[in-house]
Amino acid sequence: MTSVMAVANQKGGVGKTTTAINLGAALAARGKRVLLVDCDAQGNASSGLGVRVTDADASLYGFLQREVDPPLHRPFEQLPLWLLPANPTLAAAEWELAAQGGGETVLARKMESLGRDFHVVLLDCPPSLGLLTVNSLCAAQSVLIPLQCEYFAMEGLTLLLETIRKIKMRWNPALRIRGIVLTMFDRRNNLCHQVATEVRHHLGDRVLKTLIPRNVRLSECPSHGLPVTLYDRNSAGARAYLALADELLETESSGE
Ligand SMILES: Nc1ncnc2c1ncn2[C@@H]1O[C@H](COP(=O)(O)OP(=O)(O)OP(=O)(O)O)[C@@H](O)[C@H]1O
Ligand SMILES: [Mg+2]
Repeated sequence: MTSVMAVANQKGGVGKTTTAINLGAALAARGKRVLLVDCDAQGNASSGLGVRVTDADASLYGFLQREVDPPLHRPFEQLPLWLLPANPTLAAAEWELAAQGGGETVLARKMESLGRDFHVVLLDCPPSLGLLTVNSLCAAQSVLIPLQCEYFAMEGLTLLLETIRKIKMRWNPALRIRGIVLTMFDRRNNLCHQVATEVRHHLGDRVLKTLIPRNVRLSECPSHGLPVTLYDRNSAGARAYLALADELLETESSGE
């Protein structure tokens, strides 16, 4: 069965795209057929995998708003990882979807046919609670929330949880929170430890065990168009995303 997971947090720069790319590649390295859908007009998930498209029809915009075949890319022969890219044309979809009735569930309807070919579909959301994030949450069965280990980590989380609750009630009753993943953890920084403790205190076992460390390899690899597992598979970042993939696969199979 396909598992569709949105990677969402309206806070900017918390590690959504880094998580979507590297978790996707780690799951593919574990033998899963993975589709990464870039739902952000910034197109960071696309360029981070070395894919740059300029034509609207070759991006998620065309897939959502026109009757084009899904423009799928498979950037690396050795990984069963596919990408549906985005580019700035997607920004127009935001208001076009708002203008059409039922604009919240367009991606969910389009995904019905596409999702079946994959074990896992990851949706990399933009840093807002606008219609592209709402479309992702309507199309997903679960949501993974990256939270950066910094002072304002939980700022805005209440609003995100409230949005998820409303989407569950109105459009997608099956939506569940798959977990909160702490990102950019620096073990030499006391504040990071305090934040991690506090987040676990407030959110309990919703917080995943795997901590993603701050790791320079993770910030370098997108400029090479590579996931960290292909860029430097012995780095702390690569090991962390493989551990996150294993944690998700294990808890999935044990029915948690
Ligand atoms: N664990 C990490 N270690 C080091 N750098 C990281 C790590 N995670 C993310 N970064 C860097 O932090 C920046 C923001 O990360 P990323 O783009 O993944 O966040 P985002 O939540 O997708 O941002 P946006 O909200 O703009 O979409 C990027 O420059 C990225 O390379
Ligand atoms: Mg991003």
